[in-house]
Amino acid sequence: MMNNNRSFLIFLFYCLTLGIVHLLPTFETNQLQHSQSNVDPILIEVSWNTHDYDLHTIPTLQVVANPLLARQFSPIYKEIFANLKQLNAEYTRYAVWFPYPKLAVAELDPPSGIFQCGNVGENFSVNLSCEQNGGVISQVDFASYGTSAGACGQMQQGTCHAANSSDIVKKACVGKQSCSVPSTFELFGDPCFGTVKRLLIQIQCNPPQNNTYYNFNYLDTMLQDFLDATDGHSRIISYCTQPNWLFKQNKPHIYPDNATFTDWGYQTGTELVDDTMHALGDYYGRLVAWYTRGGFIDEYGRKHTSNYDYNWDYTEIFNEVESEHSMNVEFYTRAYDAVIQGIRRHTNNYDMKYVGMALAYHNEFDWYRYFLNHSNHAPDIPLDMISYHFYAGANSRTDPTAWESFFSQLDGFTFEVEQIEEIRKILSPQTRTTIDELGIILPDDNTPGAPQFPMVYWNAAAALYAYAWARISRQGIDVVGHSQLVGYPELPDLQLQPQFPSVALLNWTTGEGTAKYWTSKLLIETVDIGNDQAVVTETTDLQGQNIFSQAFIGKNGRRWVLIINKRYGNIDVFLPGCTGGRMQIINEASGFGPATEVTLELSRITLSAFAVAVIHMPPDNRN
Ligand SMILES: *[C@@H]1O[C@H](CO)[C@@H](O)[C@H](O)[C@H]1NC(C)=O
Ligand SMILES: *[C@@H]1O[C@H](CO)[C@@H](O)[C@H](O)[C@H]1NC(C)=O
Ligand SMILES: *[C@@H]1O[C@H](CO)[C@@H](O)[C@H](O)[C@H]1NC(C)=O
Ligand SMILES: *[C@@H]1O[C@H](CO)[C@@H](O)[C@H](O)[C@H]1NC(C)=O
Ligand SMILES: *[C@@H]1O[C@H](CO)[C@@H](O)[C@H](O)[C@H]1NC(C)=O
Ligand SMILES: *[C@@H]1O[C@H](CO)[C@@H](O)[C@H](O)[C@H]1NC(C)=O
Ligand SMILES: *[C@@H]1O[C@H](CO)[C@@H](O)[C@H](O)[C@H]1NC(C)=O
Repeated sequence: MMNNNRSFLIFLFYCLTLGIVHLLPTFETNQLQHSQSNVDPILIEVSWNTHDYDLHTIPTLQVVANPLLARQFSPIYKEIFANLKQLNAEYTRYAVWFPYPKLAVAELDPPSGIFQCGNVGENFSVNLSCEQNGGVISQVDFASYGTSAGACGQMQQGTCHAANSSDIVKKACVGKQSCSVPSTFELFGDPCFGTVKRLLIQIQCNPPQNNTYYNFNYLDTMLQDFLDATDGHSRIISYCTQPNWLFKQNKPHIYPDNATFTDWGYQTGTELVDDTMHALGDYYGRLVAWYTRGGFIDEYGRKHTSNYDYNWDYTEIFNEVESEHSMNVEFYTRAYDAVIQGIRRHTNNYDMKYVGMALAYHNEFDWYRYFLNHSNHAPDIPLDMISYHFYAGANSRTDPTAWESFFSQLDGFTFEVEQIEEIRKILSPQTRTTIDELGIILPDDNTPGAPQFPMVYWNAAAALYAYAWARISRQGIDVVGHSQLVGYPELPDLQLQPQFPSVALLNWTTGEGTAKYWTSKLLIETVDIGNDQAVVTETTDLQGQNIFSQAFIGKNGRRWVLIINKRYGNIDVFLPGCTGGRMQIINEASGFGPATEVTLELSRITLSAFAVAVIHMPPDNRN
């Protein structure tokens, strides 16, 4: 073990040498990459007896609903949910996001009174049923295979129309309790070769019935898998996509028939049809009642039974609300209140906690000032938690040196976090915060055929998350969620369009953990909230341009040090006193496996490119 005088001298020495190096304007990363191992190590000096700050920040992740999580479509959903379960994360955010309307929205078509309608593309089927009151299909008001369009009750024949549409549908449906009519040229012939066609049908029942279009099939199975994988933990459920027909539409929005196809244009409309927001609240009330109260009563007073009595503690209200339907803060704040009131109306649950805002953009301090001011909310509306997001970017998808900039981008964000905290502490100090999406989006991420990034990207992104968690923990933020469990590039075999592959924590082919996943796991396992406190940690790395390091000590005396290499190249560090301790390190060599564990025989440690290390110090025998 080093004695203290000698390490102090080394400390001084490195301050000087690195100071000089830093003054040279041509100092470049590439040089560092080739030379750092030969250069003397960076000294990490921990003042184990000097309290820095208490640790409150829970590391977690977000899970975004997409077809690779769906048991109906995914060859790896079991691996994915097993890996989620193994994380044992608290406050996992489950975001049921809009690009897959059939996976996200329980009522994709508006209630249509006594008319019942279907509208599907080629090769899908219109399914109709009058079984609700034991009735039969009594009349076909409209039927057209071709280019007809219009909402239920207002369908209009297009210029392309199969003349026998009505006869075919009448023959298949009238007098039946239910029928299914395929939208195919085999059945209707081809009234306009080369043009995309749809089948539109409107019927009525005898006795008459009022019609709604609830369909929870995909929502149910994915939620079940998520809740099973996170059982026993707190979680934040975000059915963040509203049916777009709640907003005024110029014409009905046509969503994909195929549940796996993306619809980036789903969120149309900026003005609600029901400006009292009662209908908006009802939608969410019924959705939550379906999952937590065994079912709900629909728009026409009819009971829908699910028998689910799930339980979760936090519901988040909407996502990236500034862009969603162009909401402003007054609109969103009213909607937040209306959704809570709706959930209470339909479930009578007053214990549910709520997460608000999920903001995507930066420096929107007016949003925080308005939303966190309780007098802008209805009485009895809780402000339990707020949420917002951060993604770093890069100017190259394939050049790892470009990824060294992630860390300074995060530094900019922590300055914003500080300012948001000032607002929160004044207006609503008891409101907690989750930064519920923290990640990286590489350029061209959703462009089919974009080049695959090299595997060291997983390390760069893992290092950024560990860095973000540690930097933000200094602000006392409650939760920081790594974004997100599984994304993917274009997957032709599964007919899947890209879904932000660079944001993924798991390998989309095998479901195995990447360095991002294993870094989350390492932090979740290591961090001991309520016990750990940060102690003053200094390094000879001027302005922290090469490494980040922070030491923690538990009430039980457990001592650990997080060290992150911010560079695409080897860096040596010198951590006095770590000899005989244990290191868990995630680097290129640990690949798709957990952190590599080694017993430290020297206090000099080499961190390869973007490595994340947790050093467990040997027991402290100094007393
Ligand atoms: C519908 O299926 C037929 C084959 O049965 C195929 O030729 C046609 O391209 C399909 N249409 C669409 C829009 O996928
Ligand atoms: C409609 O009916 C067909 C044939 O019975 C079935 O394959 C299809 O899954 C049904 N579609 C929906 C959306 O329920
Ligand atoms: C409907 O009309 C088209 C075009 O005349 C024809 O090809 C098709 O077979 C007809 N369908 C039925 C079920 O009669
Ligand atoms: C349909 O709902 C309306 C209310 O919207 C109601 O007046 C009517 O009686 C209902 N009809 C049937 C057949 O249930
Ligand atoms: C819908 O997408 C799935 C793949 O996600 C594919 O297997 C299926 O063929 C598609 N269905 C149609 C009718 O295009
Ligand atoms: C909170 O909002 C109310 C009403 O909009 C306003 O009068 C008050 O000044 C605000 N409080 C703060 C601290 O901004
Ligand atoms: C996923 O894992 C396979 C098998 O280990 C590997 O060949 C592939 O490069 C990995 N893909 C990514 C993007 O991590």
